[in-house]
Amino acid sequence: MGTTTDTNGALEVTLSQEQIDRFHERGFLRLEAITTQEEVTRLQGVYDRLFEPGALVSEKDRLELAGDADAPPALPQIVNPDHYAPELRETVAYANAGRIAAQLLGDEVGSAGMHAIRKPAKDGAATPWHQDEAYWDPAYEHRGLSIWIPLQPATLENGCMQFVPGSHHLGVQPHQLINPDSHGLELQSLELVEEAVACPLPPGGATIHFSRTLHYAGPNTSTEPRRALIMGFSAPPTPLPEPRHMPWQRPEWYA
Ligand code: NI
Repeated sequence: MGTTTDTNGALEVTLSQEQIDRFHERGFLRLEAITTQEEVTRLQGVYDRLFEPGALVSEKDRLELAGDADAPPALPQIVNPDHYAPELRETVAYANAGRIAAQLLGDEVGSAGMHAIRKPAKDGAATPWHQDEAYWDPAYEHRGLSIWIPLQPATLENGCMQFVPGSHHLGVQPHQLINPDSHGLELQSLELVEEAVACPLPPGGATIHFSRTLHYAGPNTSTEPRRALIMGFSAPPTPLPEPRHMPWQRPEWYA
C-alpha cells in the first residue's frame, strides 16, 4: 500500500505510484484494507437490514440479476443502497474510495453510485463474465471504475472477484441478457477469459476495476451469505460522434 495511517480508528489509504501504474497496466488492483474491521461489522448490520423482505426499498431499486421471475432470488441486488441508508456515505470506506478514485482517474472524478449484492448461502448464482460498460449509455465515451468491498472474507468458495488482466484495453465486447427476465448481462463468448486471476480478500479489503475490465464472481457455495458493497466512480462522459452498437441493451434503460 502507498500510505496507510491508522489513528483513532480512522484508516487513510493512499495508493503508491507503483499501484497506480499496475492498475493502468492490468485493469484491476487488489487492496488488503480499505476500511476498519469495526466498520465492516457496522456495515454488515446496515446491509442485512436493507435486504430484509420488509425493508423500505423501492421496487425499482431491487434488481434480480440472474434468476427468472418466478424463482427465489439467486443474485439479489439493491441499487442506490445509500438512498435508504445514508450512513453508507459517512464511512471510512467511502472516504478512501473517493481518494483512490481521484488518484486513478483524476480530480474531475465523481461518485457514480453504490450498489449492494447479497448472494444467498449455498444457492447464490455466479455473476457471469461481463464488462460494466456493456450496461452504460452507448452514446458516450466513459472513464469509470468500481470498488468492490466484501463484508466477510471473499474466497473462491463464496464467489470472490476474478479479472482478465489487460482486458480494459479491449473495446466493449458482445454481451447478451442472462435470461429474458433478468437485468443482468453476460459476455457472449468465453474465449477471452482463460487467463483469469482470482482475488480472494479479507473482510474490508477491496478490488478496483476499470469499467471495461472483464470480471466475474463465482456462485456462493459456502454456508453464509456473501455480502459485497460496490462503489462506482467516473469522470464526466464525452459524447461520441456515433453511438456504439450495443443491441443487447433494452430501450427502457435510458427512458
Ligand atoms: Ni460488474
